Amino acid sequence: MNHKQIRQIFLSFFKRKKHNIITSASIVAKKDSSLMFTNAGMNIFKDFFIGNKKSPYSIIANCQKCLRITGKHNDLFEVGKDTYHHTMFEMLGNWSFGDYFKKEAIKWAWELLTECYKIDKANIYVTIFKGNKEDNLSFDSESFKYWKNKIDESQILFFDKKHNFWEMGTTGPCGTCTEIHVDLRNEKDKLKLPGNNLVNKKHPLVIELWNIVFIQFLRQSDGTLVKLPTCHVDTGMGFERLCMILQKKQSTYDTDIFTSLIKYIAQNTDQIYGVTETIDLAIRIIADHMRAVVFAIADGIRPSNKKYGYVIRKILRRIIVTYYLTLNINKPFVFKLVKPIIGYMNHSDLNTSPLQSYISTLILSEETLFLTTIKLGINKLYKIIDQLRYKKCHMIAVKIIYWLYETYGLPLEISKRITNKNNIQVDS
Ligand code: ALA
Repeated sequence: MNHKQIRQIFLSFFKRKKHNIITSASIVAKKDSSLMFTNAGMNIFKDFFIGNKKSPYSIIANCQKCLRITGKHNDLFEVGKDTYHHTMFEMLGNWSFGDYFKKEAIKWAWELLTECYKIDKANIYVTIFKGNKEDNLSFDSESFKYWKNKIDESQILFFDKKHNFWEMGTTGPCGTCTEIHVDLRNEKDKLKLPGNNLVNKKHPLVIELWNIVFIQFLRQSDGTLVKLPTCHVDTGMGFERLCMILQKKQSTYDTDIFTSLIKYIAQNTDQIYGVTETIDLAIRIIADHMRAVVFAIADGIRPSNKKYGYVIRKILRRIIVTYYLTLNINKPFVFKLVKPIIGYMNHSDLNTSPLQSYISTLILSEETLFLTTIKLGINKLYKIIDQLRYKKCHMIAVKIIYWLYETYGLPLEISKRITNKNNIQVDS
């Protein structure tokens, strides 16, 4: 199954269950002052959950572009290091606004995973909220009852608030959740240590796939929970992870969502992916971050020094520093990735060449500007190093490194790497 079929099967399944299928909303959460970017599929439905507005449909399914780079849900520094976190990802979700609840949500999730996608039942683990005194919440016995009818009890695990109570941010709609995890290890490893020991332990091959949240409360700014008048369902399945499972890969970066992008980056930087870990990490960071940048710009953000624009500029600079330092590239090149990225998403609204060329041009000018600044800063640093050498000094004051950053925007890691290479220590 390729990724486009996998996405379509999800949407068609919920269409058969009478859900209204809607397209992805913007990745930029401009209407919500508590957020910058859409960090979960449910953000756009917040007002329906709280009861401020009425949804035109009581049940919905979609595939929402999400970005987790700020606030409570921030995966920026996980990216590339492991094999399944992304800043920008797609979230498959089904929603009930005061319509169905735990019974149907659990039944349909199980049916879709085991009958349509044919994931082996033996590899699935589910987790259930075990209660929390602080919030005065009891064990989720109802979810337990429904799961017991489907899956062996040894595959049902109980976790506390950290894993099984989902909150959008410090305030907002929230509730207990039941999660579905999948064990992708080989049979030998599974025999040595059963998967139930590895759920929620950050094992790269025992991963969370689907979170089914039962929205019942509103977290207020004083930290207390207020019960909502109606119960809702909010689910989120990681599309990239689903593709990793169904395509039997060990990493989301090895699925057909990423392979052509990774190949393109490797070819354009004269590297071979899959040989050296530091190079692979850099390539994965570029592939991941570029998707975030492209879709944020497509949704109306321009890199700048303010708010949303600043976050996007910072990510773009992280890409440039990564290719400059690790892949030894000193000319703009990621602007060329816009077309393959948009092609993979197959969003018809983005598939217009004026929009593609607008995004490429913007990225090209950011790359050009930042590379020029970096080069000016580097020249300045080399002059300082020459002067230090002349004085037979092997130390540079950290305030000079900060001055180079403030004056020339020269990232600290670049300065530190150059001083290191030249046997100059940074004196803090
Ligand atoms: N809102 C839930 C999540 O983002 C489904 O994990």
